[in-house]
Amino acid sequence: MTTLALNNVRPYGEDVTNILIDVADGVIDSIGENPFDDADEVMDCGGNVLLPGLVDMHVHLREPGREDTETIATGSDAAAKGGFTAVFTMANTSPVIDQPFLAEAVWAKGQEYGKCDVYPVGSISQGLKGEQLTEIGLMSRSGVRMFSDDGKCVNDPQLMRRAIEYAKAHDVVLAQHAEDHRMTEGSVAHEGEQAARLGLRGWPRVAEESIVARDAIMTRDYGGRYHLCHASTEGTVELLRFAKNQGIDVTAEVTPHHLMLTDEKLDTYDGLFRVNPPLREARDAEALKQALLDGTVDVVATDHAPHGSEDKCVEFENAKPGMLGLETSLAVVHRIFVEPGLADWRFVAKVMSERPAEILRLKDQGRPINVGEPANLVLVDPQSPWTAHGDEMASKASNTPYEGIEFSARVVGTWLRGTQTYDAKKA
Ligand code: DOR
Ligand code: ZN
Repeated sequence: MTTLALNNVRPYGEDVTNILIDVADGVIDSIGENPFDDADEVMDCGGNVLLPGLVDMHVHLREPGREDTETIATGSDAAAKGGFTAVFTMANTSPVIDQPFLAEAVWAKGQEYGKCDVYPVGSISQGLKGEQLTEIGLMSRSGVRMFSDDGKCVNDPQLMRRAIEYAKAHDVVLAQHAEDHRMTEGSVAHEGEQAARLGLRGWPRVAEESIVARDAIMTRDYGGRYHLCHASTEGTVELLRFAKNQGIDVTAEVTPHHLMLTDEKLDTYDGLFRVNPPLREARDAEALKQALLDGTVDVVATDHAPHGSEDKCVEFENAKPGMLGLETSLAVVHRIFVEPGLADWRFVAKVMSERPAEILRLKDQGRPINVGEPANLVLVDPQSPWTAHGDEMASKASNTPYEGIEFSARVVGTWLRGTQTYDAKKA
């Protein structure tokens, strides 16, 4: 048995312990009071925090079609560097992931590269056109667990109803990008004082909330597992609370950027801050924060959306929407919740690993740090100041909205089934 000792770790930031990993089987072999000094490889982890490998329900890895901005390989590198052991990559590629063979190819590429489990998301409509449903059943049989037209909303209520019924029959998750496109034509920023001052066309909250309300009622009546992508408004939080109180099976995610940033950032018209849904106001960010704390919003998902500088370093109206997220999300969540004492590392493990794995029914991710469990782990130094720079990202793109911002929590190492996928010392 080849073994790896992670000595002197604090699982979930709690008591110091020592962990022995069976590398061949990729599982945690033992946990003990005494350091495992005769393992094949011994690491002293300096009392750093150990969490289950993070799971991101929402990324865009751009392969196939825009490999100039990100590939499954570079996206996996970024994921591993951010502490992730599994990501779900959205279907809005070129071609769109709307057939089983395309989904299978994405999964196979991720496995071949081996740094992160890359789960393909299948599209709900063929070619993301919002007209014909895809073969949800066939794709689910080739392993697709989640379907989404993300980037676009399934606006047509009849198509959405059918999608919900098929998703229910095949027991898969439907993830909605809630945006009534009729209300957001030409919109580039949150509709409010800031957009008015800057002369930018606004995207009203109701464009999101009206879809969330409709979908919640549809889920009530037609069932299925509905997941809301990137919740961004205070009103959406209220609707989710209503739906959950009614016992409707909805889950929701919030992005790190909608928690940390607001439309105040738009002062400089910097295209880096253009994103869909747009950065909102402080009261929205505050409501989302509370909602994540009380479980109304289930998870943090990055919506990691790489774009080249030719699409970001341009006039705000012409910038493509989207921001990088994989390499900064843990630090952002630490900054917002752990540093001020609003939540502990158990909470971080819950919203960034356990809950997403539960929603997607992953058997080997988001598991407790226990003997016999898969060694999907991330080691975090909570006090290792670092500054985010786009040009230092493992991602192929550099469109981080946190350029120049100093964070305190840093990923030291990531392991996927006992194999190290990221090592800060070697980076
Ligand atoms: O800002 C965004 N960018 N929002 C989306 O929904 C899609 C994404 C992308 O694909 O770039
Ligand atoms: Zn997205």
